[in-house]
Amino acid sequence: MLVLGLESSCDDCSAAVVEETAREPVLKSLVRRSQDALHGPFGGVVPELAAREHLLQVRGTIQEALDQAGAKLEDLDRIAVTRGPGLVGSLLCTFSAGKALAWRENLPWVGVHHLLGHLNAARFANPDLPFPALALLVSGGHTHLYLAKDWTHLELLRKTRDDAAGEAYDKAARVLGLGYPGGPPVDACAQRAPKAAEPFTPPRFRDGKPAWSFSGLKTALKLRVERDPRLATRGAEDPAVQALCRSLQDAVADWLLRPIPEVAREHGAKSLIISGGVACNSELRLRAAALAEREGLVLAIPEPKLCTDNGAMIAAAGARLPLERGFALNADSDLRLAVD
Ligand code: KG4
Ligand code: ZN
Repeated sequence: MLVLGLESSCDDCSAAVVEETAREPVLKSLVRRSQDALHGPFGGVVPELAAREHLLQVRGTIQEALDQAGAKLEDLDRIAVTRGPGLVGSLLCTFSAGKALAWRENLPWVGVHHLLGHLNAARFANPDLPFPALALLVSGGHTHLYLAKDWTHLELLRKTRDDAAGEAYDKAARVLGLGYPGGPPVDACAQRAPKAAEPFTPPRFRDGKPAWSFSGLKTALKLRVERDPRLATRGAEDPAVQALCRSLQDAVADWLLRPIPEVAREHGAKSLIISGGVACNSELRLRAAALAEREGLVLAIPEPKLCTDNGAMIAAAGARLPLERGFALNADSDLRLAVD
């Protein structure tokens, strides 16, 4: 089955062609037009600009993905497109394009929840993953731990109370003047650190309920920069900036993974999936590999280009979902999972 996957829930316009075989999804093409340069000067995504840019990019992105795969619209068996959650103006660009193409070409189509997309990106890494699995979905908008019964059914176990882990990276990079999005430059900086700075203290919750919190990290980082204002302007070459990035990176990876062994045992999980933009992080990947080995979990983390938002993960998820009937369905910025 040949699937065209489309994604534009935030600031990347992406299209991919995926061949879904009986055993695994095979990537035929992946095009991703980033808007980092557009939003960079603002230090975050400007929704109206994102939507306008998607509108300009969507046609060319789809055509390029088809061309790279050597496929024509009539070769496709279905179109899968992100329905939500996300920025509604952004979502509408590919959602409307996908629906219009399906209507014109008389093709089956399906709207996909963005997080089911991130989950299914792991099928490219390990299509035979044993279930139940823990799925840690970490991006600029989500820090959610799910119990996955299979590739399409998720039960929420814990999430962040405030900022997402990716947001912590983006805000830290803004404080340190390292650019947007913050994950890649902070990660690179941390890897070059001769040593870590003073560690960040993990948050404590009075009610004892399972959760994460990342907003305190930004405040703690700001306080350190107030004590030594030169940190905000010295840039990535400076050892003190690198050391601070190292401590931040250690904290995020440690806090994210700390509850995993206990939760895995509690739910009899056989595998651990980590996906979403933050799953590109070098320290998180290293520590997750060690944890999985220690705990006897099968680990599936997609390659970095499939961790960040992309059309391939939407195609892989859409290949396994029931088709839509008619064309009444619309994008939904607050779309819930069936069990959320
Ligand atoms: O999944 P994604 O592309 O978009 C959302 O759905 O949010 O994730 C983007 C997030 C950004 O916050 C970015 O800073 C973060 O992923 N990110 C990283 C790394 N690469 C991207 N965070 C930490 N380390 C990285 N190497
Ligand atoms: Zn995402």
